[in-house]
Amino acid sequence: MSKLKNKVVVITGGNSGIGFGIASEFKNEGAKGVIVGRNQETLDSSVALLGENFTAINADVTNLADLERVFAITAEKFGKIDVIVANAGGAVTGAAFGTVADIGEADFDKTIDLNLKSVYFTVHKGLPYMNDGGSIILIGSNAAHRAYASFSLYGATKAAVIHFAKGFSNDLLDRRIRVNVISPGTTDTPVFDKFVPAEQLEAVKNYWAGVMPIGRIGQPSDIGKTAVFLASDDSSFLLGTEILVDGGLSYLAK
Ligand SMILES: NC(=O)c1ccc[n+]([C@@H]2O[C@H](COP(=O)([O-])OP(=O)(O)OC[C@H]3O[C@@H](n4cnc5c(N)ncnc54)[C@H](OP(=O)(O)O)[C@@H]3O)[C@@H](O)[C@H]2O)c1
Repeated sequence: MSKLKNKVVVITGGNSGIGFGIASEFKNEGAKGVIVGRNQETLDSSVALLGENFTAINADVTNLADLERVFAITAEKFGKIDVIVANAGGAVTGAAFGTVADIGEADFDKTIDLNLKSVYFTVHKGLPYMNDGGSIILIGSNAAHRAYASFSLYGATKAAVIHFAKGFSNDLLDRRIRVNVISPGTTDTPVFDKFVPAEQLEAVKNYWAGVMPIGRIGQPSDIGKTAVFLASDDSSFLLGTEILVDGGLSYLAK
């Protein structure tokens, strides 16, 4: 399989969960490039699995100088970039999820920094290093479409990310860069470990499998295969659109 043969890719959060699932599928399709994260241990173990065509860069996507460094190093090592995946996000280290009654300014700012501002600046900083005709993939969430307890702020950032795909595509028409967004439903990633005590993990995942109309939670490969489609010429007529990869969670009433 070589839908992405020699395409240069940058995947933020490529050292865990959905990001690693995307990187693995990209690798299977012949891509090369960079994964970005802050945990050196998982960066090293992930890049060892991805093989010699991938490099890991330790960087914080909420830091604009770090983002600049990521794209400069990528372009120097691999040449101009064809695909950017702005995936890093989700649970914020040191910031709580909560209701509008609970979340104050400090946690608000941290959540916006990771789940919204970083997406904007990943694209902004990456563009000068990108080939015309490339593809940018943003990661939204089904939480943009449904109100889950304590997820108002997170859901709002993802709703804004879905808008970014439309707005950025419009902004970039002259460069033929397509921007689309994948919104996952509940997906089996290490994010569960951040919220759920180890002894309850299986029960919580089983609960979600029961909630999902399709009867199982998503796997990172489900998102990865969709990302291959959006990165490749197979999706050349798609821009500014959202693909829900959510097992029916957003719109099917079970
Ligand atoms: N899992 C789900 O059910 C689900 C559902 C809908 C949407 N999503 C979205 O999917 C994306 C990936 O989530 P996941 O479930 O795969 O979570 P995950 O396993 O916790 O992975 C999050 C990734 O983001 C990176 N990251 C976090 N903060 C960062 C920062 N400041 N700078 C650089 N990298 C950072 C992490 O790397 P380091 O720890 O090394 O920094 C890690 O690679 C997120 O945008 C999330 O909102 C997930």
